[in-house]
Amino acid sequence: MTSSGTAEAAKEEIELALSAFHSTFVEAFAAAPTEQVLRDEKAKLLGKNGSLTAILKRMGALSADARKSVGERVNALKTEVEAAFDARLREMVAEKRKAELEARPFDLTLPGRNPIGDGHIHPISQVRADVIEIFRGLGFAVFDGPDVEHEANNFTKLGFPPDHPATDMQDSFWTKSRHVLRTHTSNIQVRAMTTVKPPMAFIAPGTVYRRDDDATHSPMFHQLEAFLIDENVSLAHLRGILSEFAERMYGPGTPIRLRPSYFPFVEPGAEVDVGCVFCKQPDGKRKGCSVCKHTGWIEILGCGMIHPVVFEHCGIDPEKYTGFALGMGLDRVAMLRYDIPNIKLLFDNDPRFLAQF
Ligand code: DAH
Repeated sequence: MTSSGTAEAAKEEIELALSAFHSTFVEAFAAAPTEQVLRDEKAKLLGKNGSLTAILKRMGALSADARKSVGERVNALKTEVEAAFDARLREMVAEKRKAELEARPFDLTLPGRNPIGDGHIHPISQVRADVIEIFRGLGFAVFDGPDVEHEANNFTKLGFPPDHPATDMQDSFWTKSRHVLRTHTSNIQVRAMTTVKPPMAFIAPGTVYRRDDDATHSPMFHQLEAFLIDENVSLAHLRGILSEFAERMYGPGTPIRLRPSYFPFVEPGAEVDVGCVFCKQPDGKRKGCSVCKHTGWIEILGCGMIHPVVFEHCGIDPEKYTGFALGMGLDRVAMLRYDIPNIKLLFDNDPRFLAQF
C-alpha cells in the first residue's frame, strides 16, 4: 500500500473510532445511575488514559489535511461530551430533588429512641424550686446577680473588716482585678439595696464558691438568701417567716429555735435549728439520732437583723428602715432530705446516683 493509501486507511479507522466513541458516551451517560459513575464515565472518555486520548495518539499517521478535519471533529466531540455531561448532571440533581419531594415525608410525630432513659430534676434543683416556691408564696421575689462579684459587694459593704478571715486568699477565689467568686449570696442584699428603694422583699438563689473541699464541703455550692426591708421590721417578723418556712418545708408543727451567732452584716445574728425530721416521733418529740447528733435539732440557716452599717453603705436611712436577712445552704438541705452522705455525689453527675431520686 502507498503512504497516501496508508494515511487514507488510518483516517477511515480513526473516523470509525470517533463514531464508536460518540455512541459510547451517549449510552454511558444515559445509563449512569449515580453522579460518581457519571464522573467515572467522563474520565474514561476524556481523561489522560481515556479513549479519546488513545484515538488522538494515532493522528500521526494522518495527512496534514485529514489531521485538521479530524482535529476539528475531536474538538467538537469534546464540547459535545462536556455538554452531555452537564445536561445529565442537571438531570440527576432534578431527579433526586423530585424523588425527595415525592417521597413520604419524615414522620415528625414518631417517638425517638432514648438510649439513656428518662431524665429528671436534680436533687439540688428540686430543693431550690421548693424553697423558692415557699418564699414566693410568702411574697418574696427573685433577685438575680453575677457569680463574679466585686469585693465591695461581697465583703466591704456588708461590713467585713479588711482583715476578716473570709477575705483571705486561702479562703476565697480572687481575680487579679479585686473581684472574687462570690463566697455567699449575701452580695445580693447590696445589689438590691443600691438599686431598689424600700420596701423590698427578695430571695436570691445562686452558686457560691469557697476554698473548701471535704465530704460536706465543695468549692462550689448553692445558697439561697432572703431579706425583707421596710419601716418597723422587727425580729418578730423574722421569726414568723422562719416558722412559716419550717412548717411549709418540713411539715406542720415543725419547731424552730434561734441561737445567737455572729455575722458581720447582721445585728443581732442567729443560727436557726429545726426539729430533726429523722427521729421525730408520732407525738412530735425527737428521740435523737445520728443525723441530729442526738440533739433533736438540725441547723438549717443563718439570719439576723440587717446591720445599720450595711444600710449606710447602700444609701438607705437606718433611722427610717429596718430589715432582716437569712441565708441557707441548699446542698445541705438536699443532703438531709435525701440522706446523701457526701456532697461530691451531687456534682459527679453519675447516672447511677442520680437515677435514685
Ligand atoms: N452569708 C452567710 C454564709 O454564707 C449566711 C448568712 C448568715 C446569710 C446570716 C444571712 C444572714 O443573710 O443574715 O455563711
